[in-house]
Amino acid sequence: MTLLQVMAADNAADVRVRTTDTAEIGAELSKHGIAFSRWEVLPDAATTDSDTLLAHYAPRIAELNASGRYEHIDIARIHPDDDNPDWPATAAGARTKFLDEHRHAEDEVRFFAAGRGCFYLHIDDAVLATVCEAGDLLSVPAGTLHWFDMGPRPDFVAIRFFEEADGWIGDFTGDKISAGFPTLDELLA
Ligand SMILES: [Fe+2]
Repeated sequence: MTLLQVMAADNAADVRVRTTDTAEIGAELSKHGIAFSRWEVLPDAATTDSDTLLAHYAPRIAELNASGRYEHIDIARIHPDDDNPDWPATAAGARTKFLDEHRHAEDEVRFFAAGRGCFYLHIDDAVLATVCEAGDLLSVPAGTLHWFDMGPRPDFVAIRFFEEADGWIGDFTGDKISAGFPTLDELLA
């Protein structure tokens, strides 16, 4: 379920907007300069190999990258693997990586082909928690304070667009603001 929940930055209990209407979500995010759109969902994307996924979305990718600004386009995927004793640690490590507030030198552009994750955009006096699901494309502008929660059982396939190969590297603010906000699972509960 794609979801937008807008909260006061100094009080997560002060919920200003909560909607699952994707048109409303797009309109609300655009007020803050955040691009949100929907691409068609490929059934079985979670089990489709990366080359096939990139080929399927090639026309969409070409349109998004008409200017050629994204020189590095790849796929990030993580799925629960309960047969692997190392998986809980891998999952926790992946989740922790971007759970603290940070910003990037370039736009963070993600298309969710499968699964879900939540971007928390800290803009002025608000935090916009945006749960992205299969079919959602979100672009976090360069310099925008944000964090990302993939939940305790990370499960997603996302196409990533980078200008520089190290564009994913975060500049962490050291602010523990994210601890005061509902997690991905709490938002969806
Ligand atoms: Fe980020």
